[in-house]
Amino acid sequence: MKAWLAALSGILQIASAQTQSCRPCHAAIVDTYLQTGMGRSITERPSSLRATFYHKLSNRHYDVNAGVMRRYQKGADGAVVNEIAKSIDFGIGSGNHAITYANRTPAGILLELPLSWYRERSALAMSPGYDKPDHFDMRREISPACLFCHAAYPTDAAALPSSIDCARCHGPASAHLAKPSKENIVNPVRLTADRQREICFQCHLETVSTGIFDSMRQPKRDVYSYQPGEPLSAYKLYFDRADAPEPRFEVNHAGYRMLHSACFQKSGGKMTCTTCHDPHSAKTKPASCTGCHAEASAKHSRQMGSDCAGCHMPKRKPSDAIHVTVTDHWVRRQPKFENPAREGYEPYRGRVVPFYTEADSVSLDIANVQAPNEEAVALYRLYLQRDAKDVSVLAALGNALFRLGRRQEAVDTLEKTLTLEPSHPGALNTLAIAEATAGNLERAIALLDQCRKMRPDHALTWFNLGATYQAMEKPLQALQAFREAIRLQPDFAEARARLAAVCGSRKLRGC
Ligand code: HEC
Ligand code: HEC
Ligand code: HEC
Ligand code: HEC
Ligand code: HEC
Ligand code: HEC
Ligand code: HEC
Repeated sequence: MKAWLAALSGILQIASAQTQSCRPCHAAIVDTYLQTGMGRSITERPSSLRATFYHKLSNRHYDVNAGVMRRYQKGADGAVVNEIAKSIDFGIGSGNHAITYANRTPAGILLELPLSWYRERSALAMSPGYDKPDHFDMRREISPACLFCHAAYPTDAAALPSSIDCARCHGPASAHLAKPSKENIVNPVRLTADRQREICFQCHLETVSTGIFDSMRQPKRDVYSYQPGEPLSAYKLYFDRADAPEPRFEVNHAGYRMLHSACFQKSGGKMTCTTCHDPHSAKTKPASCTGCHAEASAKHSRQMGSDCAGCHMPKRKPSDAIHVTVTDHWVRRQPKFENPAREGYEPYRGRVVPFYTEADSVSLDIANVQAPNEEAVALYRLYLQRDAKDVSVLAALGNALFRLGRRQEAVDTLEKTLTLEPSHPGALNTLAIAEATAGNLERAIALLDQCRKMRPDHALTWFNLGATYQAMEKPLQALQAFREAIRLQPDFAEARARLAAVCGSRKLRGC
């Protein structure tokens, strides 16, 4: 066995302290739960993992050693260029299928790293979404939405995330811990079937993982505000591609595919995830088909064998993560499918339609915005009447206004965005361009410096700094900024072109 594989067989998980607090009285549940993928969903830094990996499509070399991931390229003379090293601070995923590695920057921002570990291959390979020439490399911020599905609610902003805990399905537990009783904790079994399913759907319902506006939180709802037992539609609206004749199969599709099953659709709303799964062991209950298919089960198990799911819910490769194999929850008579050979990244430009939840017209129209035009501006303004502090809508409005040439309104909106989130990279960059194009070059530099300090991995900020220094006729600073943009993002063609232009006209050290 390779040394790093031996190291991984001892993967350590980061458990939430809350899970342990239930042990004195619910020991059996705690112990089975800690064996599940959910109970181990965040993993520790892989200190003894050693591996190298070359990604041909993007021509990048990687190595992992002593908990650090390094990326570099080789110059014409074979010398190492564009080198970056980041500490692997924790992993997302139990490793039942995969672990995606993450870094925490000094400013506390979480970055997804380009390599994941895959159990099926017992090896490292590109993270889902990264197997292309122009991937995110080491620059992609992990959104709170990613951890909403993969971790416990954060208790301390400075701490690393911990694995999914009891509260994610049972709600807040402090009252119960102080004075345990049936009355002060959510027991899903006492909820309607819809509310039970939605406890699982908060994380297990996703229509499409990338490329469209697949869901949208309701106004004034924070990422972590969903409470088990409340209607999911009060928290979030879902959308799907309008052109989905045969629904796609993706890694997080248990909920989406189950909703397409005749078993679900024709059983009068009775089917929930716990019809088949024990929530605390995450295993399937024995005979989970028999409850509804007594006759077919008796007939079938004689003729076909007892592995009902093996034929009707086959395991297959999702289109968005081809190095894993997961169960298809669309129960069908004779499922036909082909495993994809490559991950598909084609952008979708068509309309989206409401899925599972009903959408009001403003939300639906916003989900369908294709360009920052006048119509989009009107929609964003309508939305801000519902929630004046939605930072992403404010930033989108500021960007749209600027592109439409409405400079002063854009500046006002972007400044408002920055009072709510001082390091918003989109708002800082758009505002900097607005200032630079109005001739306020020093102010543009100050804004970009503010962004760079908080987000030193944001290649576009370095590019905009370079362009501003170029306009100020400061070639040396321009050159350094373009170089940094290229080191962070070697496929940044415009930064390379600008760098060549700066160098071409002068003889500078470092050209
Ligand atoms: C000091 C003992 C104690 C601790 C600690 C404790 N519980 Fe309980 N729990 C109880 C008792 C007692 C009941 C009520 C059992 C009954 O009435 O049948 C209960 C019931 C429950 C129920 C079922 C409620 C129902 O409607 O039937 C859930 C869910 C639950 N606890 C979750 C938790 C979670 C999650 C934790 C940890 C955050 C926890 N408990 C910690 C003692 C405890
Ligand atoms: C907070 C988000 C969240 C909630 C709530 C949630 N899940 Fe999960 N579930 C996950 C994630 C993430 C994984 C993958 C964990 C891993 O292996 O890293 C997972 C994995 C699973 C698995 C695979 C087996 C395993 O060992 O974990 C099953 C089965 C499952 N969930 C069922 C359920 C059911 C049933 C519910 C509702 C009662 C539910 N989940 C609620 C996020 C969630
Ligand atoms: C909407 C909820 C949701 C979001 C957002 C989400 N995931 Fe997941 N992810 C899941 C669920 C659920 C599974 C388990 C799927 C299964 O086993 O069928 C999963 C599986 C995984 C696994 C494999 C875990 C294992 O070993 O089984 C990794 C790694 C992973 N996700 C990483 C990420 C990263 C990184 C992000 C953010 C960029 C992300 N996910 C965003 C819900 C989500
Ligand atoms: C993935 C969601 C999920 C998680 C996480 C979870 N539970 Fe539960 N729990 C449920 C559901 C659903 C039920 C209802 C029982 C059922 O449907 O079989 C339940 C029921 C219970 C009950 C009632 C008695 C019983 O056995 O049914 C207790 C006690 C309990 N959970 C404790 C815990 C503790 C303690 C933890 C953390 C270690 C925990 N649960 C984590 C979903 C979850
Ligand atoms: C909550 C009840 C329920 C459960 C549990 C359930 N089914 Fe079904 N299933 C149904 C109903 C209802 C239909 C529709 C029957 C009809 O069309 O007359 C159905 C249809 C089917 C079909 C035909 C699908 C089609 O598209 O025509 C298959 C195959 C099937 N079920 C297999 C299974 C298997 C295998 C399991 C266990 C893994 C299972 N079912 C669990 C209720 C259930
Ligand atoms: C009709 C029965 C049935 C229902 C209903 C059902 N599942 Fe499953 N699920 C299965 C079977 C069978 C497996 C495969 C178990 C195995 O291989 O051990 C599975 C596996 C999974 C896995 C692991 C995926 C993989 O293959 O690695 C996840 C995650 C999961 N289910 C989530 C859910 C969620 C969430 C729901 C509700 C939306 C749900 N399931 C409803 C039968 C069901
Ligand atoms: C070896 C593969 C295989 C296994 C194992 C299997 N089935 Fe089937 N099943 C089929 C096929 C093929 C059909 C489609 C028959 C047709 O359409 O004429 C089918 C049809 C069905 C149907 C549709 C209604 C009917 O009776 O035609 C149900 C329900 C069903 N199976 C349930 C089950 C259950 C429950 C089990 C486990 C006890 C099971 N199957 C095991 C292959 C299998």
